[in-house]
Amino acid sequence: MLDKIKALEKEIHSFEITTDEELETFRLEFLSRNGKIQSMFKNMGKVPKEERATVGKAMNSAKNLAQSVFEEAQQRLNQTAAKDLNARDDITLPPQPYPLGSLHPLTQTLEEMKSIFYRLGFTISHGPEIEDDFHNFTALNFPPNHPARDEQDTFFVRKSDDPDMQDLVLRTHTSPVQIRLMEKKEPPIRAIMPGRVYRNEAVSPKSYFLFHQVEALYVDENVSVADLKETLITFAKLMFGSDVKYRLRPGFFPFTEPSLEMDIWWGTPSGGKWLEILGSGMVDPNVFKSAGVDPEKYTGFAWGMGVERIAILRHEIDDIRTFYQNDIRFLEQFN
Ligand code: DAH
Repeated sequence: MLDKIKALEKEIHSFEITTDEELETFRLEFLSRNGKIQSMFKNMGKVPKEERATVGKAMNSAKNLAQSVFEEAQQRLNQTAAKDLNARDDITLPPQPYPLGSLHPLTQTLEEMKSIFYRLGFTISHGPEIEDDFHNFTALNFPPNHPARDEQDTFFVRKSDDPDMQDLVLRTHTSPVQIRLMEKKEPPIRAIMPGRVYRNEAVSPKSYFLFHQVEALYVDENVSVADLKETLITFAKLMFGSDVKYRLRPGFFPFTEPSLEMDIWWGTPSGGKWLEILGSGMVDPNVFKSAGVDPEKYTGFAWGMGVERIAILRHEIDDIRTFYQNDIRFLEQFN
């Protein structure tokens, strides 16, 4: 028995403890309820009476040995851990850079447009992205077979043969929000309507199936083409600088009469070109009738413009798809 205890002590001495896992293995092997020390004490009954005093003493010293090896190792490991922690807490080290997010270039452009319109006294209004045929087309004076209703351009959510059930589409422009606003609110109305629009177009550097527009609507008594021109020019100057070169051309839209398009001159070192930035016009009386506004009493103007188009101009971006790819290398340039 005494030999066995000697062997156990040797085992305890030679057990190497350098990690927390090894410390736990040591505890399980020697000090736990089923460990070697406890099972040794369980054998005490088999020891002849006259040897019990000696064996008991030897067992106790083996137990104390295991206990002190354990405690010593535990203390040593704790100290190393504390040292590691102190090394990391060196307050003289420079801080790790903390990356901040930033607004998407489209959001930045939209925010700037909004702030210009706020200055001009416009409020903001929103409408659904899934529209019915009435608001997206019919109320805006699109004739029944107008090419814009074609499946080439429009994403249909529901196409119906039942005359009592309308087609549902992903709105192809923000103009239907004009109708929703006029249905709800008696003029005077002075509001902008920003949002996503969808068109079933082939994806290329120049076009995408989703983009953003800002619609503007001004309805009151005695609103004239002169008011429209004045507002367009003020907007262009605030957006692109007071020395912006612009031109207004006659255009055509089913929902305005007359219609105007605005181009701005985009100068480059090698020359430059005219770029169309928006469509506009005086609200057609048919549109007022569809939306429940009295065309005898009120007149108004409207316009619509693409947010991407303007962001592309301002930042000289050559591929519209970069706006939607969330490539951090692209986005970081707009911090
Ligand atoms: N809805 C037209 C489009 O998507 C843009 C537009 C043109 C809006 C003239 C208007 C407007 O309000 O008066 O191309």
